[in-house]
Amino acid sequence: MKILNRKNKKKRVIEPTETPVKETRRRPAKSLRSILTLWFLLFSIVPLVFVTGYSMVQFESAIDEELYKRLRGNSREISVMFSDLENYLSTHSNLHASDASLIYEMSTASIPNARRLLQGWMKNYSVSRMSLFNSEGRLVVALTRSGAGEVKSQTNLEAGDVYLRESSLKQLESSMQIKFRDFDRPTGQLELIVYTKILSKKAKPVGFLEEIISIDRGYLQSMKKRLNLDIFLLDKDARVRVSTSENLMLYPKTFFADKIGESKNSFFEVSSQDVAYAVKIQPLTEGDNSILLGLAASKRDVMNATKVITRALFTVVGVIIILLVLTLLAASNLVLKPLNNLVEAAQKIASGKFGTQITIESDTEIGLLTDSFNKMSLKVAEAKTALEMKIQELERLNHDLQETQAQLVHSAKMVSLGQLVAGVAHELNNPIGFIYSNMAHLKDYSERLTKLLDVAEHNPKNLDKTKKEEEYDYILEDMPRLIKSCEDGARRVRDIVVSLRNFSRLDEAQVKDIDVNESLENTLQLLSGELKNRIRVHKTFEELPLIKCFSSQINQVFMNILSNAAQAIEGEGDIWIHTSINKDFAIISIKDSGKGMTDKTIEKIFDPFFTTKPVGEGTGLGLSISYGIIQRHGGEIRVESKIGQGTEFSIFLPLDGSPISK
Ligand SMILES: Nc1ncnc2c1ncn2[C@@H]1O[C@H](COP(=O)(O)OP(=O)(O)OP(=O)(O)O)[C@@H](O)[C@H]1O
Ligand SMILES: [Mg+2]
Repeated sequence: MKILNRKNKKKRVIEPTETPVKETRRRPAKSLRSILTLWFLLFSIVPLVFVTGYSMVQFESAIDEELYKRLRGNSREISVMFSDLENYLSTHSNLHASDASLIYEMSTASIPNARRLLQGWMKNYSVSRMSLFNSEGRLVVALTRSGAGEVKSQTNLEAGDVYLRESSLKQLESSMQIKFRDFDRPTGQLELIVYTKILSKKAKPVGFLEEIISIDRGYLQSMKKRLNLDIFLLDKDARVRVSTSENLMLYPKTFFADKIGESKNSFFEVSSQDVAYAVKIQPLTEGDNSILLGLAASKRDVMNATKVITRALFTVVGVIIILLVLTLLAASNLVLKPLNNLVEAAQKIASGKFGTQITIESDTEIGLLTDSFNKMSLKVAEAKTALEMKIQELERLNHDLQETQAQLVHSAKMVSLGQLVAGVAHELNNPIGFIYSNMAHLKDYSERLTKLLDVAEHNPKNLDKTKKEEEYDYILEDMPRLIKSCEDGARRVRDIVVSLRNFSRLDEAQVKDIDVNESLENTLQLLSGELKNRIRVHKTFEELPLIKCFSSQINQVFMNILSNAAQAIEGEGDIWIHTSINKDFAIISIKDSGKGMTDKTIEKIFDPFFTTKPVGEGTGLGLSISYGIIQRHGGEIRVESKIGQGTEFSIFLPLDGSPISK
């Protein structure tokens, strides 16, 4: 058993035709050129700049490393130089203190002789000062070298009460010689000082010899010339005492004090008069923090070299960038121009200019693409023309089809009208037939009665005899029967005419409130000729409210379904008609005991022109028209059928529907 609900069938949706594109040159949302440039910059220039920057950093750190090595080497060199100088001083001082003449002079306290001795030594000896103290530690001879190299006696000191320091004297008790380094208070220059004990032959101290080498600015300047860096010496508090550069003297002592730790394994930078200096400070002698040696190498040359290299690098990068951008622009022009031409042509096609052609300007892949585009454009134009022709042809065919369909619908109507008329004529023929034959008898009877009246008036004796002859008694008996029969016939004719009028309701083409049960009765009345003696009709009509319908159309539906049912029954059979209400719908079910349908047939019964009846008997339009009518009334038709058992059509009509006319 198959239930078919036509509503589930897919509908073909016809979209409104698209509005044609306006012929305006559209611009891309993003420019390919900008994207290419951006990517190009990102993937070529960024790494280039990165490599350059990285090289610069590496270069600078290599230079710094080199600078540090140089500073470290130089400070070692200076340290060694200082200790050599000290050894030189110590060796000479030992020699002088063990000189027999000096021992003698000091033992005999011949100070002028001792002074002369020292003056003689000092002339050929690069020492800054030489002094003699007597055995008590009092200064007796003080010689100094002037700036011009001349040896002078400091008579004021010799005359005064100047003594060797207590601490030094103490040290000299246990050792032959003591040496130390100190900054001279007024001049600030570093002094390498050696004290040597002078012993008599009996190993008794007869005096003390002091020899000093001063490291003044001039001495440092000569070193600066050789080493090509500024040299400065700082005391234990990190105060600069002597320096080859005036600028370095200007820094407060805290400045260097803070930096000493920093410069242990590297150097720090100090900038003075726009020149950066790499500065390293370390103890002059390892492990002795009383005197610190500072070296400051100017970074000017290094910076100049770095500047030159940086400039050269950036010039190279700049030139590369310019070249890259120019190449990119040229390349993008090469690609973009034909691409733009293609876009323009495609837009022309989109706006309806089919067959647009582009001039081919190169033999490359782009040329090939342009050529393919041109061919495609021509093909599209050709296809469009062909399509237009096809559409025209289809429109013509569709027009023809519509005309044919109209003709067929018309002829279908004519056929069913013909069938209806034939049925009605047959129905009318019966009553009119027996009214007509009754009329012949009635005419005969009236003639006989007229004759009897005439006999009764003119020859009353013969009345009885004539009565017998004319079968008066039979006439009296038969006439009311004939009249009654005529009356029945006339009533039947009237009923048929009323049904016919109700059925067609040509005078009522508008929507009317109709009684569906009454419509079914009318339709059955008209079909009674076809159903009579063959088909038993079982009606179970429930009370239904009046429903808004086009009554002639609804009658047409009932007529189609009922006559299909009658035609499906071969010989005798039954038709069950049942009306009911379910929620908002009136349900009219028409069931027959006919031959039924296969599933394949059920799928097609609502299609126009589908029929299983022999040519000339059915148009195949009955159910498709009925389907349209019920749809316009807001209802639906369902069908259930089983081959050999029968078919049931159920019509659902909305109780408060508002039908649409065709
Ligand atoms: N009650 C039924 N029992 C069996 N088959 C039916 C029944 N009703 C319709 N059909 C099948 O559906 C087909 C289409 O019916 P439809 O009323 O549309 O056309 P038709 O009856 O063939 O022709 P027309 O209505 O013009 O006389 C029929 O040919 C028949 O095969
Ligand atoms: Mg039919």
